[in-house]
Amino acid sequence: MKRIRIAQILSNPEALLGKEITIKGWVRAFRSNRFVQLNDGSCMANLQAVIDFEKWDEALLKRITTAAAVSLTGQLVASQGAGQAVELQVNHIDILGDAHPDDVQKTVMQPKRHSLEFLREQAHLRFRTNTFGAVFRIRHAVAYAIHQFFNERGFYYLHTPIITGSDAEGAGEMFRVSTLDPKNPPLTEDGQIDFKQDFFGKAVNLTVSGQLEAELAATALGQVYTFGPTFRAENSNTSRHLAEFWMIEPEVAFNDLQDNMDLTEDFLKYICAYVLENCAEDVQFLHERDAQEQAQKPANERHEMGLIERLRFVIENPFKRLTYTEAIDLLLNSNHYKKKKFKYPVEWGIDLQSEHERYLVEKEFNCPVILTDYPAKIKAFYMRLNEDGKTVAAMDVLFPGIGEIVGGSQREERHDVLLQKCEEFGIPAEELWWYFDTRKFGTVPHAGFGLGFERMVMFVTGMSNIRDVIPFPRTPLNAEF
Ligand code: 4AD
Ligand code: MG
Repeated sequence: MKRIRIAQILSNPEALLGKEITIKGWVRAFRSNRFVQLNDGSCMANLQAVIDFEKWDEALLKRITTAAAVSLTGQLVASQGAGQAVELQVNHIDILGDAHPDDVQKTVMQPKRHSLEFLREQAHLRFRTNTFGAVFRIRHAVAYAIHQFFNERGFYYLHTPIITGSDAEGAGEMFRVSTLDPKNPPLTEDGQIDFKQDFFGKAVNLTVSGQLEAELAATALGQVYTFGPTFRAENSNTSRHLAEFWMIEPEVAFNDLQDNMDLTEDFLKYICAYVLENCAEDVQFLHERDAQEQAQKPANERHEMGLIERLRFVIENPFKRLTYTEAIDLLLNSNHYKKKKFKYPVEWGIDLQSEHERYLVEKEFNCPVILTDYPAKIKAFYMRLNEDGKTVAAMDVLFPGIGEIVGGSQREERHDVLLQKCEEFGIPAEELWWYFDTRKFGTVPHAGFGLGFERMVMFVTGMSNIRDVIPFPRTPLNAEF
């Protein structure tokens, strides 16, 4: 018999009442030799199946253990017990895959509360837990919402290269891609590695951003977005950094910084609304999980709002917009600063540290913040120089509990200013000849931004470590699975 997914059964149980159906999944619990809780991943809820143990032989019942895969056929009936509306009265059992209790005992599938660290060591099995089932169903929904958002607005999804010769962000944090023999690479006359003899005839790396290529397409297709894997060899072992993450980068011709901020704000609100509306059961579960976790934190580190309130808050309130210069003034005038509570110095020109960003978002404004017009020196070469000659049309969106979630800017569309910028930053403009070309043939103002996909998933799931929102995290010294 064709199986029915549990989510489908529970979305409209009346339609199937009294009917004979088959469900397939993994046993979450088996109690009193009678009640099986079966989960098939289609939703958080299990379906209860009732087995009349006198009808079955003991050898078979013994194989219905936590984590075993089974196929159960029977009649869907109104449940006798509390806790579920319907249950399956089983009349046929197939054991599809056994799970030995001694093995299960050592894993995250053993039904009890496990630490997230332990779950991470078993990332291959953690999908079987309620928490990670919810996280990865939501991760899917966020990706879907993103495509829907852009499709509704007439953007084209652009695939930018993963292997590239350019360092878009100019930060030099790249993973080299090479087929040269590391023990015996060919050398040039002056003793350097001769990448002319490498696979691509030049030195290449994994992309740190698809932006520069997205700009090329945006200045013809009008509005595009990328959504792809992104790689950064930054050696930062924090709860917000991955060496391999996913980034969404919209790029829009004719947009200025104001338009860019409006688009970002609409976009982030849309994602939160989509998740609240379409992932209610999983969000509710994570909301309760988050509340328990918050309760264990010291008072000054707790979120004032629950997960669901935090999502609603983002949807309902305008983001606070202010310039970098205003933010620095605000920090300098804060009691926090006067009481010397910041670890890092505050002065115009510094790259804001996460303690500064958190202060602004969590203490000063208590809402998402868009900071604009940063000093040119601390931002990438492609950002548009402002009239003042020292700041650029940059914007960072800062979220409570996350910090920077979006980075973007209006781009420098003036050929001569861009060239000047490259010289100042020591970037060889001739290697970017294709990028400069767009500034020669009908150059236009344009703007875009990058959203860190995992940081967004952290926000909507309330998970506080980025390693817990990507199936198999890549971080320094860690590439298991
Ligand atoms: O601020 P970033 O470096 O901006 C860019 O790459 C631009 N090219 C974007 C653009 O304008 N098209 O990165 C954008 C976002 C950050 O705000 C952050 O959310 C995320 O990408 N991000 C990371 N997420 C996880 N791990 C890392 N190591 C990340 N680095 C950046
Ligand atoms: Mg940034």
